[in-house]
Amino acid sequence: QAHKSANITEVAHKVDFETRALANGHRGGVVWLTGLSGAGKSTIAMEVERQLFLKGWQVMVLDGDNVRHGLCSDLGFSPEDRAENIRRVGEVAHLFAQAGMLVITAFISPYRADRDRVRTIHPDVFHEIHVAAELDECEKRDPKGLYKKARAGQIPEFTGISAPYEAPEAPELALVTTGKPADESVAELVRYLEANFSLT
Ligand code: PPS
Repeated sequence: QAHKSANITEVAHKVDFETRALANGHRGGVVWLTGLSGAGKSTIAMEVERQLFLKGWQVMVLDGDNVRHGLCSDLGFSPEDRAENIRRVGEVAHLFAQAGMLVITAFISPYRADRDRVRTIHPDVFHEIHVAAELDECEKRDPKGLYKKARAGQIPEFTGISAPYEAPEAPELALVTTGKPADESVAELVRYLEANFSLT
């Protein structure tokens, strides 16, 4: 890939990251949710987005199911395709963060190496959040009926069943969603983000 980006020079912005942060009252950044299907990533992300937006934050969710309809509609669920999915989303999230936004991403992102690669793009503003629920709890919830299909052999390479999930070893925050209402995890994440990104 490197040769394709030879002879490219970066152009400096005249509005910098700190200036945008001051105008917004919070820093830009990437809040990377990772976890099994059904762990609660999208539910938490969308409600946190709503609550922070109401407080005046520049905030945007990038969600796996949505991104896979557009930007990543050419990708499936092989390890290579997931790596490319996460790479693209990492780059897009980086652009949003540079624009001053707090980006919340909701992707299974099952491979540690893929997540670590995203962290290297924006190490200062990247927060990895493990949305943690036991596999049998996710399978019991099965909101889209996917685990049932995966068990029946109708979905190949399904995370947790026939494809791996590598849990983060040192996430900035772990939200355990088993045995508690989603509201509690939402409140916990909002407090965490205010403590880490707010300038007011
Ligand atoms: S990944 O691993 O990060 O690239 O996946 P992601 O982009 O988050 O997409 C996950 C959603 O796709 C649906 N789906 C599958 N998930 C896992 N494994 C397989 N094989 C699969 N096939 C389809 C599923 O609805 C996931 O959504 P969530 O919200 O996580 O349940």
